Amino acid sequence: MSDVGVVESVPRVSLNGRSALVATLAAVAGLMFGLDLGVISGALKFIGIEFQVNDFGKECIVSGMMVGAALGALFGGRLSYILGRKKLLIISALLFISGSALCALAPSVPVLIAGRVVLGLAIGVASFTAPLYISEIAHQQHRGALISVYQLMITVGILVAFISDAILAYSGSWRWMLGIVGVPGVLFLIGVLFLPDSPRWLVLRGRHDEAFDVLHGLRGNDTHARDEIVEIRDQLAQADGGYTLFKRNPNFRRAVYLGVALQAIQQFTGINVVMYYAPHIFEMAGFGTSAALWGTVIVGLVNVLSTFIAIGYVDRWGRRPMLIAGFIMMALGMFTVGILLYFGTGNSDLARYAAVAMLLCFIVGFAFSAGPLVWILCSEVQPMKGRDFGIGCSTFTNWGTNMIVGLTFLSLLTTLGSAQTFWLYALLNLIFIFVTMKFVPETRGVSLEQIERNLMAGKPLNRIGL
Ligand code: GLC
Repeated sequence: MSDVGVVESVPRVSLNGRSALVATLAAVAGLMFGLDLGVISGALKFIGIEFQVNDFGKECIVSGMMVGAALGALFGGRLSYILGRKKLLIISALLFISGSALCALAPSVPVLIAGRVVLGLAIGVASFTAPLYISEIAHQQHRGALISVYQLMITVGILVAFISDAILAYSGSWRWMLGIVGVPGVLFLIGVLFLPDSPRWLVLRGRHDEAFDVLHGLRGNDTHARDEIVEIRDQLAQADGGYTLFKRNPNFRRAVYLGVALQAIQQFTGINVVMYYAPHIFEMAGFGTSAALWGTVIVGLVNVLSTFIAIGYVDRWGRRPMLIAGFIMMALGMFTVGILLYFGTGNSDLARYAAVAMLLCFIVGFAFSAGPLVWILCSEVQPMKGRDFGIGCSTFTNWGTNMIVGLTFLSLLTTLGSAQTFWLYALLNLIFIFVTMKFVPETRGVSLEQIERNLMAGKPLNRIGL
C-alpha cells in the first residue's frame, strides 16, 4: 500500500513530555466544546417547564450556540493572526466562563439565549484555535496523535454532559447542568496562561528569536529547533496571505475547498444526529425512557474509548486508510439501523440489541476516523500564510453544517420516514469513501512545510504527502 511506508525510513523521535503537556492543556478547549454540545439536550425539558418556552424558543436556545460558534470561527481567523493563538485561547476561556455564568443565572429566555451565543463565540474561537495551535507546536511524527487528544477531550466532554444530565435529570436543576460546565472553563483559563506562543505564529510576525526559544523548549534539542526554524522561514518567502492569497492562488483555493468539504463531510456522516437525538433513536428502537438515557451514556463512552484507536494509530497507519475504514463502518451501521427500523424492532429483544450494536458500530467508525482526522487534516493542509483564513472557513463550515444536520433530523424522520433517513446517511457515508480516495491527502509523518510545498506546487490532492 503506497499510503503506508512514507516515514518508515525516518528515525522515530520520541514524544517530549513538555510538548505533550502543552498540547493537552490546549486540548482542554475540546472539553468545553463537548460539554456544551452535550449538555443542552438534558437541560432543555426543564428550561421549557420553568419558562413555559414553546418549540421555537427551544430551537433558539439550542441553535444560539451554533450561530455564535460559526461567528466565533469566522472572526477567530483574523484575530489569531493579529493577537496570536495563545491570546485567542485566553479570550475564549474568558468568554466561556462568562457565557456559562450568564446561562446558569439567566432570569429570562432572552438572557439565556444571549448566554448561549456568548458560549458559542467561545467555542467557535476555541475550536478554530486549539487544533491550529497544536498542529503548530507538534513535531510532525506526533502531530496526528496530539490533535486527536483534542477530539478525545470533545468526546469526554460529551460523555460527562450525558452523565451529568442523566443524574441531574432526577432533580431537574437545569441551572446546575449549565453552570457546572463553567468549572472546566476556569481550569482551561489557568492552563492556557502557561502556554508558550506558537513558534510558527512568532516567525510569521518576525519574532524569530522567541520562536527559537519556544521550539527549543518544546523539542529539548538545539539542532532540531534550528532546523525547524529554517524550514519555517523558508516557507514564508511568499508575500500574500489570507483572502488575497485565496483570490490569486488556485492551489490555495483548493486547500480551502478541501478543508470546507472535509468539515461538511464530517457533519454529514450524521454523527450529531446520534449525539443530539440518541435517546430519541433508542426510543424509536423500542427502549423505555430510562434505558434510552443510559443507552446514550454508553454511546458517549464508546465514542471516548474508540478515539484512543486514533491516538494510537493515526501517525502509523495514516489518515486515508483510517478514514476509509471509518466510512465503511459508518455506512454499514446506518444502513443496518435503517433495516431494523424498517422491519420494526418492538417485539424482539434481539432486534433491539442489534440496533444498539449497529449504532455503536457507527460510533466506533466515526470516533477513530472522521472525528479526529477531519480536525487533523484541516489544520495540516493550509499553507502557513493562509492558515488563519483557511481554517476559519473550515471551522465555520463545521458549525454551519452541524446546525443544518441538527435542525433537519426530526423533519427528515417525518417526511422521508425513519428507515429512509438512516439510509440517506448510509448513502452519504458510502459516497465519502470515494471522495476520500480521490481527494484526501496522506499527511502522515510529513512536515507542515513539506505539505505546503507539495500543495502549492499543484500536486493532485491525494498525492500531496507523497
Ligand atoms: C467532532 C465533531 C462534533 C461531534 C464530535 C462527536 O468533534 O466536530 O460535531 O459532536 O466529533 O464526538
